[in-house]
Amino acid sequence: MTTPTLKQSTGPQFTRIYAIGAARGDITVPNDDLVGPIDSSDEWIRQRTGIIERKRASHDVLAVDLAQSASLEAIEGAGIAPSQIGAILVSTISNPVITPSLATQVAERIGAPLAAAYDISAACAGYAYGIGQADSLIRAGLAEYVLVIGAEKLSEFVDPTDRSISFLLGDGAGAAIIGPSDSVGIGPTIWGSDATKRDEIYMTGTNIGFRDQESEWPTLRQNGQAVFRWAVWEMVKVANQAIEAAGITVDDLAAFIPHQANMRIIDEFAKQLKLPDTVAIGRDIATTGNTSAASIPLATHRLLEEQPGLSGGLALQIGFGAGLVFGAQVVVLP
Ligand SMILES: CC(C)(COP(=O)(O)OP(=O)(O)OC[C@H]1O[C@@H](n2cnc3c(N)ncnc32)[C@H](O)[C@@H]1OP(=O)(O)O)[C@@H](O)C(=O)NCCC(=O)NCCS
Repeated sequence: MTTPTLKQSTGPQFTRIYAIGAARGDITVPNDDLVGPIDSSDEWIRQRTGIIERKRASHDVLAVDLAQSASLEAIEGAGIAPSQIGAILVSTISNPVITPSLATQVAERIGAPLAAAYDISAACAGYAYGIGQADSLIRAGLAEYVLVIGAEKLSEFVDPTDRSISFLLGDGAGAAIIGPSDSVGIGPTIWGSDATKRDEIYMTGTNIGFRDQESEWPTLRQNGQAVFRWAVWEMVKVANQAIEAAGITVDDLAAFIPHQANMRIIDEFAKQLKLPDTVAIGRDIATTGNTSAASIPLATHRLLEEQPGLSGGLALQIGFGAGLVFGAQVVVLP
């Protein structure tokens, strides 16, 4: 029996980011509102993390609401119809249900109910994972346009008495439309994990333990110093790999947009990379807090709002977090 030759799909050779949308929680929470139960101070939090205040969402505002707002802005900015979106990838760790996915809810709300839709669980690396996947899906011919979203309502998983991570966290969503391009708009994605460190950022318990009244409502924790060292030493190597794989040097960068984990990590990162002073650095953490998967697109959106001239320039973006997982690429800013 002769086996018929199968066809494989292929797409355009290059991709780029068309537009970015942003939505932040509607409540501004200054440090002073959080310091009591953790015996901290506004000064300590500012010095150690660079956070002045964080944005959190009201009780009735869900991660999907933030995702919807950010997505509609990105779609409008891209000038495409929702029906042209072939896939929706939502990076989130705060969808309140295990299934259906947050992506399918977004699909329905934005008017793309027939798009492939799935969630990515890669915490703070999720947006970079999503951009890498969108680039691959389009070049493989599986979608013409892809909507990549990072959406988090982390305030549902904070413990006001926790000194390790809760005071860092905020709520928000960032969205990007990726589509075909005449030239390279997304450099190679460097991604991976170091699962030997998977306990450095963790939950205090499981939903099943909570149901069985064996543990409290699960909240986030981290070993701050270990995460700090990993972020500064190991992630700089990943960032340098992304720069090299893209065939550029730091002198070619217009912007550096790392995951907004801690201002001290961002500063140390920039120093280790030997970034020229001309490179704009995403520092959205100061007023938004750490929004995990949403932090890179939110920081990108702010940089483009404050410095529209960065549009068309090269940005190095890198996400890293719970898992521990990481992803980085150089992109052309929309
Ligand atoms: C969490 C973090 C801000 C803590 O800062 P740190 O400088 O490492 O703090 P340390 O754990 O070394 O503690 C230093 C001192 O501050 C105190 N301290 C710790 N947390 C505190 C808090 N929230 N408020 C006030 N004091 C605190 C400690 O008790 C310690 O006091 P001591 O010197 O009297 O013993 C920091 O480790 C960090 O940001 N890590 C990485 C965070 C990150 O990126 N997470 C997200 C991953 S995606």
